[in-house]
Amino acid sequence: MLTPIIGRDGERSDTPIMAKGTRGSRVGADALFRRLRRDHRHVLEQMDAHEAALRQSKRATAKHERTLRDVLALLGTEFASHMTAEDDVLYPALLAALPAAAGSIEALAAEHRELRQMLQRLRELLEETASPERAEQIRVQIQDLGHLLRLHVEKEETLVFRLAPRLLAPREIAALAARLAPRTTEPLTRSKGVS
Ligand SMILES: [Fe+2]
Ligand SMILES: [Fe+2]
Repeated sequence: MLTPIIGRDGERSDTPIMAKGTRGSRVGADALFRRLRRDHRHVLEQMDAHEAALRQSKRATAKHERTLRDVLALLGTEFASHMTAEDDVLYPALLAALPAAAGSIEALAAEHRELRQMLQRLRELLEETASPERAEQIRVQIQDLGHLLRLHVEKEETLVFRLAPRLLAPREIAALAARLAPRTTEPLTRSKGVS
């Protein structure tokens, strides 16, 4: 099965992720890792926009809260698909191909666990009654989450995404592709206004 690749601006790539043969699997790997990098950019852009809006206005507003809920929903979707696909398929495949990288891969997996906990804490905080203390806690926690997410993405793209396309077997590329959620086409900044 092919996973359709739809860019954040709505363009659709028909490059098949799943392909047979040496050259074909290389094409598939390239398309897959372009898609994974695009997921990273999409999430970080939404985080950047939300944090910029918070910096501009120190006062917590209903609009900030709405956009925060949108950002957390996006993170939940990406953690459940992209991140889980990395945990279940990409990291084990890389570990099998390159046992010497175990330390780096375990560090990345630990960051996934930490990011999931941070997301859960923020969700719980949002359920509490609004107060200045809660607003400050949200501000600090979203900054911490954004900081770790940026570090994680940088490490992952530098350490993993450069090596993995050459090391993964075609069936592993297909398995990864099948786990990714179809892309939504509307960036939050355009549809909801994160400002
Ligand atoms: Fe990733
Ligand atoms: Fe990751």
